[in-house]
Amino acid sequence: MTDLLLLLDYLSDGQFHSGEDLAVELGVTRTAIWKKIQKLNAILPVKIISVHSKGYKIKNPLTVLNKNRILDYLPAEFHSQLNQLEVLLECTSTNQYLLECLEQNQLKNGVVLAETQTQGRGRRGRYWVSPFGSNIYMSLSWQMGISIAEMAGLSLVVAISVAKALQKFGIDDVMLKWPNDVYVDGRKLAGILLELRGESNSPCSAIIGIGVNVNMPEDMADKIDQPWIDMQQLLKKQVNRNKVAAMILNELIPRLQQFNKTGFSGFMNEWEQLDFLAGKVINIEGHMQLSEGVASGVDKQGALLVEYKGQVQALYSGEISIRPKNLIRHN
Ligand code: BTN
Repeated sequence: MTDLLLLLDYLSDGQFHSGEDLAVELGVTRTAIWKKIQKLNAILPVKIISVHSKGYKIKNPLTVLNKNRILDYLPAEFHSQLNQLEVLLECTSTNQYLLECLEQNQLKNGVVLAETQTQGRGRRGRYWVSPFGSNIYMSLSWQMGISIAEMAGLSLVVAISVAKALQKFGIDDVMLKWPNDVYVDGRKLAGILLELRGESNSPCSAIIGIGVNVNMPEDMADKIDQPWIDMQQLLKKQVNRNKVAAMILNELIPRLQQFNKTGFSGFMNEWEQLDFLAGKVINIEGHMQLSEGVASGVDKQGALLVEYKGQVQALYSGEISIRPKNLIRHN
């Protein structure tokens, strides 16, 4: 844990902590503590105040992400499979961070989480709103046993894993909108950004980025360009982000191992139970031949099957929206 995160962890209880005590805990001088507090105040939306003879106190208590608490929720067998689990105070994008580690050959299987991202990335070049200390911004780097050509369907499997973890938290009505949007009541709860690296015929690396809205601050609402929801609104109680991160990893890691063996075909039943689009009339953007149809499940590669005028086509990419009133045009 970096010094700044450790300091924030001590202060997160909302109580006063003297500069002297903090200096002992971190093994640095009181001046160093003062400097670190200035740095934290430059990043945090909630300020740390300093009161003479009492010390430092954060205005609003918060639960910070903590590597050891996440590890506590993970079974021992996963500890040995993860070469790295890192929590950052701030980064551009957790996916970008792991891609850079990978390029420098510094990582095989590892996880990174950040309290905030300054350039959070969404699919299709979109921006992922990443306010401090509110949500999950997590990426997992995983060495797959198969090549990029065999990876079709992996992003759906990641979405299934996130949905299963959310169900375990009590969010029963979670659904998946192809290829990997996690929805509740037609509003986005989580998103996935998969980036692959590797030569065409050799085992590739997957960087799996997962963003979950846990407790989105209200002042962020107008920055998000689509209907959204967060876990706290759904569950009507404080949500432990360390546990959310761990529960997702618990669901994801075994599925990645299974995907290496069976590809997407081993997950078709799970997908069917979560398929939000099934039977709905949809509009398709970014596809040359087809712009509308009825969503009819997925094939063994995870491609979306779309029925139009009695014919079924498999779609490997495209942006799907649901037609209002669910009416199909006939021309
Ligand atoms: C989407 O557009 O639905 C995908 C959103 C993915 C966001 C996550 S947050 C953690 C990781 N780092 C990023 O920059 N993006 C992904």
